[in-house]
Amino acid sequence: MLSRLSRTASRRSTSRIANVSRRWFVQPSTADRASVVEIPSSYQDETHLTPRADMLGFKLEIPRREGSLAEKIRPIYLDMQATTPVDPRVLDAMLPYLTDQYGNPHSRTHAYGWEAEQAVEDARKYLADLIGADPKDIVFTSGATESNNMAIKGVARFHKEKKRHIITTQTEHKCVLDSCRKLGEEGFDITYLSVGNNGVISLDELEAAIRPDTSLVSIMTVNNETGVIQPIKEIGALLRKHRGIYFHSDAAQAVGKIPVDVNEMNIDLMSISGHKLYGPKGIGAIYVRRRPRVRLEPILSGGGQERGLRSGTLPAALVVGLGEAARIAKKEMKVSIFHIIRVWDRDHARIQRLSDRLITNINSQVEHVVRNGDVNGYPGCVNLSFSYVEGESLLMALKDIALSSGSACTSASLEPSYVLRALGAAEDMAHSSLRFGIGRFTTEAEVDFVVNHIIRTVQRLRDMSPLWEMVQEGIDINAIDWSQH
Ligand SMILES: Cc1ncc(COP(=O)(O)O)c(C=O)c1O
Repeated sequence: MLSRLSRTASRRSTSRIANVSRRWFVQPSTADRASVVEIPSSYQDETHLTPRADMLGFKLEIPRREGSLAEKIRPIYLDMQATTPVDPRVLDAMLPYLTDQYGNPHSRTHAYGWEAEQAVEDARKYLADLIGADPKDIVFTSGATESNNMAIKGVARFHKEKKRHIITTQTEHKCVLDSCRKLGEEGFDITYLSVGNNGVISLDELEAAIRPDTSLVSIMTVNNETGVIQPIKEIGALLRKHRGIYFHSDAAQAVGKIPVDVNEMNIDLMSISGHKLYGPKGIGAIYVRRRPRVRLEPILSGGGQERGLRSGTLPAALVVGLGEAARIAKKEMKVSIFHIIRVWDRDHARIQRLSDRLITNINSQVEHVVRNGDVNGYPGCVNLSFSYVEGESLLMALKDIALSSGSACTSASLEPSYVLRALGAAEDMAHSSLRFGIGRFTTEAEVDFVVNHIIRTVQRLRDMSPLWEMVQEGIDINAIDWSQH
């Protein structure tokens, strides 16, 4: 049957079918068209078409264009909060859904749809398992930006007749703050909670901010600039006492990195991003509790997929990638030692060790370094400010290391980071901050290279700084009245 189908199809559209039915026949390049590639025998049976020379291609390697980064030495990647590399196991799981199994998961009338749907449902289960949720409560989106927009605007607009107050914090990601700003323009009242010097909110301040017309509290789990972890379980318990207030958490930097359980933490809505946990970009999810049911107005209108909350065809391959990333993250957290199942997070333990190594070695050799945020934050995000060096010069001098000063999403602007300012950091210290993002694939050798490079660079820049010279001479810089000079 399949062979008859293939042969019929071959008369119509040989190249299209060959392109999708073979794993490595996806993107023919000019060079590939010029040469004939050997076809593996497993693909030469009658169920597959024999590809012609013009259908060849698909190499799993970085394209090397003249002058591109790939031609030069690539910097060491320490920017894991901006994005994480796709775990090879994730890519393996995704590939069949980009090639052979290309069905629309919403097609109900044939096997192509059913197999894609099955893969999507498996992924939903893996993600739900990771956060202690029911799979039915998971809605796939394009990423945490969409999930945050959906949670904040969706809940606020649904309840707008009776409730028009929202509480969030000053250190949220831009997409949360901007969603709130938009609601402010629509007539909602927003309270932005301040944070202490350690970046953590005060539960008393939160409780005092609650009003009878509060519909939503949105507080992130792990901060993307400082790694600060908010007391989510305590916030959840506090909000449970106030009926009718939904609790949303942007957990883009937390899921897959630290244990998160929506029931233990009393979370009603939670945002997740694929590319922060070694999955692909362009996919994310939102947890929306069904019992008791969270009511929200969908942002998109359309086919009513995903419980009517997020219309649009699901990108099965990306969903599978997110599911596999979640499955791996969960597996890494539970390791059997001597037949005793113990919760022992292998990723976390490695990252903690590398993080300690980075901080200890920098601190032991460079003076006047301040760690921004709570020391008990997520260890894979280390934010350090270097006094008496100019932030821009520091970043320029560290071209061999891919890292961020402040959030990657805001680093295009020269404004000092609003997150660090909210923690009380002086403007110059916020400017001279660097965020070191350590992840699953970071090595000890990379950390050592970075430490040595930082030590040398900070010393060199300070040697050129008149301020540093004054400090060395024992002058108290803070006591100087600069307006007199
Ligand atoms: C805390 C936080 N929330 C939301 C986002 C946005 O995530 P996405 O890229 O999936 O839209 C990011 C990404 O930087 C983030 O760090």
